[in-house]
Amino acid sequence: MSALTKLTDVFTLNDGARIPCVGFGTWQTPEGEVVVSSVKHALSCGYRHVDTASAYENETGVGQALAQSGLERSEIFLTTKLWNADRGYETTLKAAQLSLERLGVEYVDLYLIHWPANNRIYDDPVSVNQATWKAFEKLQKDGLVRSIGLSNFLVPHLEQILAVANVPPAIDQIEFHPGYPQFDTVKFCQEHNIQVEAWSPLGCGRVLTDERLVAIAGKYGKSVAQLCIRWALQHNILPLPKSVHADRIESNTLVFDFEISAEDMARIDALPEFGFSTFSPYDLPF
Ligand code: A2P
Repeated sequence: MSALTKLTDVFTLNDGARIPCVGFGTWQTPEGEVVVSSVKHALSCGYRHVDTASAYENETGVGQALAQSGLERSEIFLTTKLWNADRGYETTLKAAQLSLERLGVEYVDLYLIHWPANNRIYDDPVSVNQATWKAFEKLQKDGLVRSIGLSNFLVPHLEQILAVANVPPAIDQIEFHPGYPQFDTVKFCQEHNIQVEAWSPLGCGRVLTDERLVAIAGKYGKSVAQLCIRWALQHNILPLPKSVHADRIESNTLVFDFEISAEDMARIDALPEFGFSTFSPYDLPF
């Protein structure tokens, strides 16, 4: 049973910050009018948590949407991410500053290392990840970022960070959807009080026509998208659904008026792998 009843209910992070339990995703949302109007629409539908990244190349538009929304900065939980080309101590400090400038804000609520460095492009990826984390701790100390965390870090990468962290990561944002739940990483995070966020909670749209999910969603009178979002929440995972369509942005919020049964949770959990993005942190060539 999930105690969450609305979009603005929160998960409390290990640093005490409170994060609205569903975030609005913006990966692949184009910069300009599309991102401005979709983020504004999301805010008008009640989302108070927006997730972007330097690599999405839409930070400027996200910032404009926030500014035009009429909401106070403090009412919105804003996340952005450090891109791979900026890993390392000094480069991270500079990149964070540039993200803040593009967003037009004094701070972000959450800053994430977008992907761990790996052996394909670094002789010593562990040192790179650890140096980047030290810069994150500095950014937090300086008040430019409120919470700090990771994205796409699997158990070995998480262990690298925990080995040197003065501040443990508050979040790990990973690919998580039916057919690709990465339960080993989820278990590790939940045991270490690291909140898991789900990127592509709808499998980037790939899982929405799956007949098994269509059948389960039908039992609740819900769409597969709503089922996927609810399934993440019932796992205490924070979903970040993305859409540029007003009707979908709104319908993706209607996930608090039903409860997936334990049997159906187990059925979805047990689905064999499908819908994987193919982006593996172990061999991403960038
Ligand atoms: P669009 O942006 O054109 O609405 P994810 O959040 O897993 O990355 O999935 C995002 C993808 O799923 C996008 O292609 C988005 O398309 C699509 N999508 C988002 N919400 C819905 C929905 N309620 N029904 C169908 N497709 C959706």
